Amino acid sequence: MRTSTRPARARVDVHSHFYPKLTRAQGDVLGLAHTPWLRDDGDGTGYMMEGDREYRPVEAPLWDPLARLARMDEVGVDLQVISATPMLFCYSAAPDVATRWAAMINDAALEMCEADPVRLRALCQAPLQDVDLACAEVARSMSAGHVGVHIGNHVCGRNLDDPELVRFLHFCADENVPVLVHPWDTMAGDRMPNYMLKWLVGMPAETHLAILSLILSGAFERLPHHLRLCFAHGGGNFAAQIGRVDNAWHRRDLVRADCPHPPSTYASRFSVDSAVFSDDALRLLVAVMGEDRILMGSDYPFPLGEVEPGAVIESSSHLSEPAKDKLLAGNATSFFDLAPIGRNSGGST
Ligand code: CO
Repeated sequence: MRTSTRPARARVDVHSHFYPKLTRAQGDVLGLAHTPWLRDDGDGTGYMMEGDREYRPVEAPLWDPLARLARMDEVGVDLQVISATPMLFCYSAAPDVATRWAAMINDAALEMCEADPVRLRALCQAPLQDVDLACAEVARSMSAGHVGVHIGNHVCGRNLDDPELVRFLHFCADENVPVLVHPWDTMAGDRMPNYMLKWLVGMPAETHLAILSLILSGAFERLPHHLRLCFAHGGGNFAAQIGRVDNAWHRRDLVRADCPHPPSTYASRFSVDSAVFSDDALRLLVAVMGEDRILMGSDYPFPLGEVEPGAVIESSSHLSEPAKDKLLAGNATSFFDLAPIGRNSGGST
């Protein structure tokens, strides 16, 4: 039980994953080549599975809300916004099957949150292979208690500027549904079989591609300004490469063909999480995004996540004290319409 070591500032983690205890039979209904399911070995450990293959070793907080809450106490997180592990998007399944699948995952998310409805809130997923079905499932989920939707950065190779996906984002704006965009199914995976390069190179590139798709296509010109979009992993390569992109926009007409303003000006249209892991990277992120559009996100409970969520923000050498409050909790509660968190209201002590 944490008492004296508890951080002074409230912390809300907007990027944390769960994986319901799905049996192989439940996964088989998708008809996919590699059935996603969860193997619980009964000793607090298990595996995320793809068919017969052990995809990743995992521990009970991934599926057990009480174990999760205990871990949140240990690391000083007041509230987690949980989202399904991206391998559960299943955008390549048949639309009707994917819709039932999404509903099952979304209901399981709310079931987890019942363990502590104040400290655990959930994002739904949607069968984006059919945008009408996706909108219906998001509407159902929001009515049931979800606080937003979690989507992949592409849908089987269609980028976010695909007209149907822009239509989905329009729906989210109209319905005031916050959207968290997570990279998945990385490009050039066959060239990155080793060293977790798909995560180290592919994921940040995928997120960069998603953001530039919306900017350079002019999609942001057509989408309402009140759309709430947040990209995971600090927006991938976006912040580091925005100078290159602006330079290209100024110098080449084919870059600005559909984008009337310099690309960097569209940074005001979205948020990013804080999962960049170094003080220097966070300084750059604040310079590009501003201190109102960075939300603390750790990628809990996966091994590439921030072990103590929010530690890089808390120990920052350049953020003011009020800015730390915003990045650690205030920006997240605003983005997801959550009640402000007082230090005495969250957690068990
Ligand atoms: Co993640």
